[in-house]
Amino acid sequence: MTEPTILAIESSCDETSAAVIRGGKVLSNIVATQAVHELYGGVVPELASRAHQQNIIPVVTQALLTANVAKSELNAVAFTRGPGLLGALLVGCSFAKSFALGLGIPLIEVNHMQAHILAHFIDDPKPAFPFLCLTVSGGHTQVVLVKSHLEMEILGQTTDDAVGEAFDKIAKMLGLAYPGGPMLDKTAAQGNPDAFSFPVSNMPGYDFSFSGIKTSVLYFLRDKTKAAPAFVQENMADICASVQKTLIKTLLKKLKQAAADLGIREIAIAGGVSANTGLRHTLQEEAKKHNWNVYIPAFQYCTDNAGMIAISAHYQYLKGDFATQYVSPEPRMRI
Ligand code: KG4
Ligand code: ZN
Repeated sequence: MTEPTILAIESSCDETSAAVIRGGKVLSNIVATQAVHELYGGVVPELASRAHQQNIIPVVTQALLTANVAKSELNAVAFTRGPGLLGALLVGCSFAKSFALGLGIPLIEVNHMQAHILAHFIDDPKPAFPFLCLTVSGGHTQVVLVKSHLEMEILGQTTDDAVGEAFDKIAKMLGLAYPGGPMLDKTAAQGNPDAFSFPVSNMPGYDFSFSGIKTSVLYFLRDKTKAAPAFVQENMADICASVQKTLIKTLLKKLKQAAADLGIREIAIAGGVSANTGLRHTLQEEAKKHNWNVYIPAFQYCTDNAGMIAISAHYQYLKGDFATQYVSPEPRMRI
């Protein structure tokens, strides 16, 4: 079967999402973002699991309706096996298993980080193999060598915090509303990126570190507000722009190094932080300098969504890569 119809489910963090794909074309991609976490300024795992339970049936129903696909037309059910929050993953995994069992169709387990990268194969233009992908999300920061749809190698990764976490935590220090990353991005657009300077970490190889900049911003704010209590309010846009510039510089330093060492000019970004306007813009600038072909996902496929799980499942289906009913979530799953 070259035109499989697959229902895909994503529930690794705070987005409950379902998509339907047919022959590699995404027919629907429904995302329910959980607002419950706003109150706490961050994702509360137990609340995420409960919200997934509430959302999953309406989201799956909507995905099938939008795609105009009946359950009887499905050839497989796919779900995110990991990485992610255990309780959250469990909801998608259990739902997918029962759905596949009830319909008597195969089950496909998808790696969330691989799916972020494969989101580039939903629409055109598609990167050519081999390409380098900088995968940047709330839980991961990786430079990945993508050899084929299902063959990937992590060349470097963060040794502490993910870049998305650094965006979110620094935004929280500045008193910006949750979710911090997009707020910091928006505020940075009005500021001067050269107003303040923060350290760019220097890790071996293609690895990253983001804990240092977090601490450096914390001490910077403490010292500045001691002298002038209104410092943050008066300099908010400049602080955001300077922090964002440093985070992007840290990311691009390793990406440029890997691209030069491997002689690769096909460069992609993926994951929630690839929605960042500064990163998208800087990557385009670097592309001109280094003669790169860059691939930046459409906004709807940057942050967590089941469309990317569906495209990964499509390639896995063609390869005959199915899971058994004994499969369980793997919170620390690697590519
Ligand atoms: O991929 P994703 O949706 O979930 C994970 O797999 O973690 O990524 C979420 C991360 C969060 O840290 C969020 O703040 C960040 O992506 N993010 C952004 C932007 N949009 C989302 N960070 C910076 N600028 C943005 N525009
Ligand atoms: Zn993600």
